[in-house]
Amino acid sequence: MSRSSPFPILETQRLILRQLTVDDSENWFKNLSDDEVAVLIGMEPLENVEESKSIIKSFSDRYEKRNGIAWAIVLKEDYTFIGTCSYEKIDKENRSGEIGYDLLKEYWGRGFMTEALRIIIEYGFENLNLNRIEAHTAAINMASRDLLRRLGFSEEGISRDSSFFRGEFRDDCYYSLLRREWTNPNKI
Ligand SMILES: CC(C)(COP(=O)(O)OP(=O)(O)OC[C@H]1O[C@@H](n2cnc3c(N)ncnc32)[C@H](O)[C@@H]1OP(=O)(O)O)[C@@H](O)C(=O)NCCC(=O)NCCS
Repeated sequence: MSRSSPFPILETQRLILRQLTVDDSENWFKNLSDDEVAVLIGMEPLENVEESKSIIKSFSDRYEKRNGIAWAIVLKEDYTFIGTCSYEKIDKENRSGEIGYDLLKEYWGRGFMTEALRIIIEYGFENLNLNRIEAHTAAINMASRDLLRRLGFSEEGISRDSSFFRGEFRDDCYYSLLRREWTNPNKI
């Protein structure tokens, strides 16, 4: 991914993954201000659209330096925004990237995130030349853990009491998928 190359728009059977921009702030705010989503992510719900705009701007800064990349996930049939997925961090020296993702609640349970992450994983290994893709998630976030397992990620461990959220400590789970496992899944 050189500095001059255009933003990578990715396509799957049902989805288009395009650049997340400040025009998505309102739509993304709907998700990040939802308390159920906030509890799963482990952050307080956003209170205004300016906050989602500022997160998007920080992604744009990271993309400028090629240290991160965020996609808006839209339905192919009508371009409806349904969520986001990203490499929140790209560590070029160690060829690793950390993914993040969220879907608007009404689109849960239909395999959309599995489909979106599959294509960004492929992009990560083939185009970003990553060797390792990692993710971490609150231990209580079973949908996220199931998603990572479904995609072939291994659980590396549980970091006990690693976050303090709403008056209690929570465990976090760490996952990774290596290039050699992705190219040769039977050997996992
Ligand atoms: C994490 C999150 C994206 C997972 O969403 P999800 O809907 O469970 O994941 P998918 O879109 O891949 O859908 C998978 C589900 O759809 C079902 N499904 C239906 N059609 C499917 C299809 N064509 N292909 C694959 N799965 C399909 C699967 O069986 C699975 O359901 P199950 O878990 O009950 O078995 C969602 O819970 C979310 O946005 N949470 C809030 C944000 C968050 O937690 N982010 C992670 C923080 S680290």
